[in-house]
Amino acid sequence: MTVPSASPVMRDYGSVRAGFDWRRARARLAGLPGGGVNMGYEAVDRHLLEGTGEHVALRCVSREGTATSLTFAQLADRSSRFANALGTLGVARGETVFTLLGRGAELYATVLGTLRAGRVLCPLFTAFGPEPVRLRMDLGGARVLVTTRALYDRKVASIRARVPRLRHVLLVDPGDGPLPDGTLSLPELMAASSPDFTVTATDPEDLALLHFTSGTTGSPKGAMHKHGAVLAHEVTAAYALDLREGDVFWCTADPGWVTGMSYGIIGPLTLGVTTVVDAGDFDPGRWYTILAEEKVTVWYTAPTALRMLMRLTPRAGSGTPREQYDLSALRFVASVGEPLAPEAVRWGQEALGLPVHDTWWQTETGAIMIAGFAADPVRPGSMGRPVPGVEAAVLRCGDDDRAAVTNGHVRVVDAPGVRGELALRVGWPSMFCGYLHEQHRYEACFADGWYLTGDLVTRDADGWYWFVGRSDDVIKSAGHLIGPFEVESALMEHPAVAEAGVIGRPDAVAGAIVKAFVALRTDYTAGDELRRELLAFARKRLGPAVAPREIDFESDLPRTRSGKVMRRLLRARELGLPEGDVSSLETTGHARGTSGGSEEQR
Ligand code: PRX
Repeated sequence: MTVPSASPVMRDYGSVRAGFDWRRARARLAGLPGGGVNMGYEAVDRHLLEGTGEHVALRCVSREGTATSLTFAQLADRSSRFANALGTLGVARGETVFTLLGRGAELYATVLGTLRAGRVLCPLFTAFGPEPVRLRMDLGGARVLVTTRALYDRKVASIRARVPRLRHVLLVDPGDGPLPDGTLSLPELMAASSPDFTVTATDPEDLALLHFTSGTTGSPKGAMHKHGAVLAHEVTAAYALDLREGDVFWCTADPGWVTGMSYGIIGPLTLGVTTVVDAGDFDPGRWYTILAEEKVTVWYTAPTALRMLMRLTPRAGSGTPREQYDLSALRFVASVGEPLAPEAVRWGQEALGLPVHDTWWQTETGAIMIAGFAADPVRPGSMGRPVPGVEAAVLRCGDDDRAAVTNGHVRVVDAPGVRGELALRVGWPSMFCGYLHEQHRYEACFADGWYLTGDLVTRDADGWYWFVGRSDDVIKSAGHLIGPFEVESALMEHPAVAEAGVIGRPDAVAGAIVKAFVALRTDYTAGDELRRELLAFARKRLGPAVAPREIDFESDLPRTRSGKVMRRLLRARELGLPEGDVSSLETTGHARGTSGGSEEQR
């Protein structure tokens, strides 16, 4: 086994940044033999050509705790079989394959087979209920779904007829006995397919991935990413996660979200490092055991997970993780998705022997944009500095907490410590190339050559960024983005609900929990029984990851004169904060049933 070298991949931020250029960095990729770029080729085939096919790509830890290895050559075999199976099924180039799968070897064969075949991959979160699954498959034009038998029975069978373009459902664990109607056995298909496959010649501009994310209003947004994004996955996995040859990397993110794709699959495989794939659920003992037994060198996790570990394990004295487990292989720990409190950075130092480095990015950015790098001492509470090749800025905001755009121009704030909207100069390779079928919404994200992130930040005199908050109503719960509109719409399907407004209520562990305020129709009475019924109703449709945890009944919800529920005001009242500007508040009763949603945002 190769031992990773002792010094960080990027030893000096200033000089690497000054000399960095995405065009020159392109030489880091293998590229397709006939020209072009394919994400799956970079993650799998290049290692076979470079003679490291027998290197372990995946260490798959089963729910029972046993680990098995899969080499890059085996990954090539399995993903080739999957790619050939897509051809046999008549799935055309550019059509979309959805996954509703937990972590396991089948997920990797599906994702990499789809990418190598030039089809588009869209992952879904297994904690979604039937309605979010249906909506996303319908919006995304799903042709194929790969899932488990249990997930099919629980979340797909009931909505299948409402996803008219879905042609094939492939079950990874068909089991004994007859298959549910309209499903196929993936193991059978794979066994009947050839392990020889020539990667489809894709261009860097060809569509590779579709990731659904949530906005304030309307449907979930399908952020589209191109094959050329793999360059940013590779570069950031090296610079921001400090990954290099010989590493054993563990990314705990769920594969249903962008982190699970960019850094659970593509980035580390492209660099040829070994990736740990844990099929089990969060459990402190299990996690520390994996870190120790798999000799994990680089660990990428999330603030919610760290907060849960902080609650459950001592940080000092006897019984700390570093005393109980052999964590001596661990070299670098990073986190993403939510603010990383200084407390968590310090906990890492004491309990694991390493501080936690923050990284900031979004579904839309495709890869890490801002990070605390390995060579720099951590500044607890800061997200870090822009990765080489990424230009960031703080933009002056208007009253709505969004960048003020005057005659098409924005104003960059140079003075340190001033709060404004975080923007990124257009031009990094993993920038999303559209919201599916929503060109207008996509264009609204840009001004004056900048991508506007919707996050509020400050920058200090040394160029380090500090997160302040989001400028919209989207809720971050346990690291996952939840669109309040999706929750409000589900609640309003219940006959008792006239109007709903949904906010994130701060929570010590999850960051925020989903809380709904509901106004009832006149013939219904508020009470515990109805509350329980509504909670169960929402949970059945939306699934545990999205459904509200709390519901309050209100006789009147605050609304604007145009009839939108003012979530901002609901949040201020819930938290006892100043109500701010209420000049647009409707003051005379309500026009029930006229609302098209909640408070409008860009
Ligand atoms: O508000 C920021 C928050 O997560 C949002 C992006 O969420 P999503 O598209 O689901 O992608 C998550 C994983 C890349 C951002 O707009 N966020 C992400 N990283 C951080 C963060 N907030 C504070 N600190 C971070 N490091």
